[in-house]
Amino acid sequence: MPDRDPRESSVDVEIIGRVLSTLPVGDDHPYRSGPWRPQTVERAAVDLPVVGEIPADLDGVYLRNTENPVHPAISDYHPFDGDAMVHLVGFRDGKAFYRNRFVRTDGFRAEQEAGRSLWAGVAERPEVALRPDGWGARGRMKDASSTDIVVHAGVALTSFYQCGELYRLDPLTLDDLGKSTWHGDFPARGVSAHPKVIPDTGEMLFFSYGKDEPYLHYGVIDADDRLVHHTPVELPGPRLPHDMAYTENYAILNDCPLFWDPQALAAGRHVARFHPDLPLRLGVVPRRGTRVRWFEAAPTYVLHWVNAYEEGDEIVLDGFFQGDPEARGGTFPGDRRYARVFRMLSLDGMQTRLHRWRLNLATGTVREERLSESITEFGMINPGCAGRSYRYAYASTGAPGWFLFDGLVRHDVRTGAEDRYRYGPGVFGSETAVAPRVGASDEDDGYLITMTTDMTADRSECLVFDAARVGDGPIARVALPERVSSGTHSTWAAGATLPGWRATDDPLGAS
Ligand SMILES: [Fe+2]
Repeated sequence: MPDRDPRESSVDVEIIGRVLSTLPVGDDHPYRSGPWRPQTVERAAVDLPVVGEIPADLDGVYLRNTENPVHPAISDYHPFDGDAMVHLVGFRDGKAFYRNRFVRTDGFRAEQEAGRSLWAGVAERPEVALRPDGWGARGRMKDASSTDIVVHAGVALTSFYQCGELYRLDPLTLDDLGKSTWHGDFPARGVSAHPKVIPDTGEMLFFSYGKDEPYLHYGVIDADDRLVHHTPVELPGPRLPHDMAYTENYAILNDCPLFWDPQALAAGRHVARFHPDLPLRLGVVPRRGTRVRWFEAAPTYVLHWVNAYEEGDEIVLDGFFQGDPEARGGTFPGDRRYARVFRMLSLDGMQTRLHRWRLNLATGTVREERLSESITEFGMINPGCAGRSYRYAYASTGAPGWFLFDGLVRHDVRTGAEDRYRYGPGVFGSETAVAPRVGASDEDDGYLITMTTDMTADRSECLVFDAARVGDGPIARVALPERVSSGTHSTWAAGATLPGWRATDDPLGAS
């Protein structure tokens, strides 16, 4: 590696926006300080300093959503409530550029105008909301759109885990493109985070959940952003699905036995409770079908699936099994006042392990097996392998007790081999996207991209790994203009899929 250190380099950083923050000076909330200290300034920079070398065949953008609050909660802040900020690192011709923008949701705009929080967060009772309206399956929440990000039909879409709008951003400039309308068919109940973009067909699969019967809906958007399939899915009651999976022919929905306690719910309280006496139910539906076939498996909650594919009579479904969905054995190392709520945020608290379910379509039975003893989550795959037989999952390890990722593991799901990298003391990464090398044909012929928050050096970097050699550490470290808040879900969009990617010499010039 060349010995140029990004800290000694200068880079032109353009400030493109500032927003009002009413957070207290010296804020000591554990998820608004330290690695979670939020941003208030939007910046753009080109030709970022690099240690190592950015491969010329790394071509596209890494997009990461971030919970980035700007106002204190009405009473109790939870990190899932934070407003959305997208950080973008683009790679082109061996150089990198950066931009960050808030997602200007309806709720964000209203709270900017009011100068305070108006809706209740997930750790607060809905009654504390100052507004009678709101979004989300629970109701009276702000649709922060800060959970997930995907790129569909050349547009970046941010989404919210409690269901809400899909906010559209230019995936190169992060300019605000409004909300998805689906030509008038966007559901009033909103859609959940983790819609699935299918590269081969340009389709996007989605689901919505809520407190009204039938409690779940599933649908398909085509490459022209039209709703081409939408079907109700009956559940026994309100559930809290977070993710879905798909194969070549099927969508896979879930009914996990972690849901709002029905008695408390009848009294207007939303208490998520694990019901170990109930099975995990996995619903298999033809991608354009309406008849859901349910399979039962050992009780758990699954936050994220990794992949699924068909093999003979079976559907193979991989995801992260939670050994302790309520994190009863978990601890929170920070301020004890927050222990009850925040112990549920850590991977070690939830005991998340890579797991495989085999759903036999001929017999209706399920076989399941643990694929790893390691506690990991947030698994990413080569996007070309989605819905197909695959070999590698790239997942994060968690800092004990915290919603922070302290390392990266490449799981070989065929052999069980694991290749690990730890970011180092005080350094936390985000969900790590796979960027296939331009012209690649092998599954691991590509790069892994993550964004760090480095509390030791007080900086952030975007790290590039050789996907086949995770343990060797990053091949390039790109310095970002400032230390940015820890964040989670991310995606990779190849330059070839981005409108205007080669239209200008200046990658940010399109704005
Ligand atoms: Fe998620």
